[in-house]
Amino acid sequence: MNSHDSQSTASLEYAVPQIDELLKHSIRTQLESLLKAKLTTGQRQLLLQKSFVDAMTLVLSDTKIEHSTLLKAFEAMYDQAVQSMALAQLSEELLTKQYVSASGLIMSPHNCKHTIKDVYRIQGYARGLDRAIHSKLKHNDSVTILYPACGPFAPLLLPLLSYYKESKKFTNKQVKVILVDVHPGAILALTQLVEDLQLSEYILRIEEADATEYKPSESIDILVLEAMQHGFTKEGQLSIAKHLVQFLTIDGLMIPQNVSVRGMMVVGETEFNQQWKQAQYSHSLNVNNDAQQDRVELGEILSINKSTLLNMQELELQDGVKVIPASKIKLPSSVKDMGKRILAIYAHIDTFADEGVEQYDSGVTHPRPDMTFYIDAKPKDIEHTHFVAHSGDMVQFYYQLSGLPGFVPVKL
Ligand SMILES: C[S@@+](CC[C@H](N)C(=O)[O-])C[C@H]1O[C@@H](n2cnc3c(N)ncnc32)[C@H](O)[C@@H]1O
Repeated sequence: MNSHDSQSTASLEYAVPQIDELLKHSIRTQLESLLKAKLTTGQRQLLLQKSFVDAMTLVLSDTKIEHSTLLKAFEAMYDQAVQSMALAQLSEELLTKQYVSASGLIMSPHNCKHTIKDVYRIQGYARGLDRAIHSKLKHNDSVTILYPACGPFAPLLLPLLSYYKESKKFTNKQVKVILVDVHPGAILALTQLVEDLQLSEYILRIEEADATEYKPSESIDILVLEAMQHGFTKEGQLSIAKHLVQFLTIDGLMIPQNVSVRGMMVVGETEFNQQWKQAQYSHSLNVNNDAQQDRVELGEILSINKSTLLNMQELELQDGVKVIPASKIKLPSSVKDMGKRILAIYAHIDTFADEGVEQYDSGVTHPRPDMTFYIDAKPKDIEHTHFVAHSGDMVQFYYQLSGLPGFVPVKL
């Protein structure tokens, strides 16, 4: 499993003070190694900039790069970025504060810092963004990009900007960026990182704001967003996209251009264990044919793109909870072992053109087992609140926007 979701599932434990101390240790170690290395600020900034440019040079290359080479480059980028974060001197409170807002989980900078190592997610976004920026600049002198929920390192964009600056591919007159995050700790770390990378010339503003309410004063050409976790749960991707899509120019682009969330019934042991026995690492290129054949696909549950977002109807329930109707799905009826299967929800991300992030490429596209959904089987616990249906039933899925977002199935 990739960094994004493994970090986040463990994240709630970080509220325990002893664990916080242990985790802070890693940042202290970085700081100590920095002091020992006796680097000047200039030397450190050069190493940081080089690591960002190197990772992007690999990612944008059209020849196949070895997995181990990519990992090394991303690890170097992470090490350098964490040193910059250490120098931002966040208090323990700012570093580790994590909470649930009205639209989803607000992860602490401490937990967010790992997303810069999520190689194939960043590759899919950076390659897509690069092509989108190209296509916009064919007809316009400049492009304004909004990146909400960017986290402490804004890893989908800052490495790309470093590459543009170094290669002189696009100037600050051509690419202008607004970075938004609601977490004050993320804003502090981000400000330090932008300064260390000497990218201020490309940054119009860094805003501390809730992206579900933020109103940019200029129209936006490209909206880049990744605030989701596996199974399309917990974080506020949909609420943020739904609010900000209105600020896109008429031909403005959303990156990703489409997120397709799909459901399937799998035998857990086959999908999550047997399938990976021989694989070196989890990636869409390493899935196992037999395991893929064994899946019973239910189809698309929700598709998120500019047009579906603009047309989405929100329903408000009695207690103020907001939901969005998603697909109606007829459960297949000729699957012999349906009672043994579990629902798994996964996302396929098309960033731009033919670039994207496929199943298992990243934590965010990793299928998520849902142990509360039963077909042709009975939950064992007596006072269960699980969803129980039968082969052949029609099921309407809703997407719950408030609190911790996620899908709610209802039998028709
Ligand atoms: C996982 S981190 C960074 C994600 C980043 N987009 C990436 O690609 O690595 C998530 C960040 O999103 C921010 N965030 C979540 N919901 C938000 C919201 N509604 N408004 C602004 N920031 C939000 C959190 O504060 C956190 O810094």
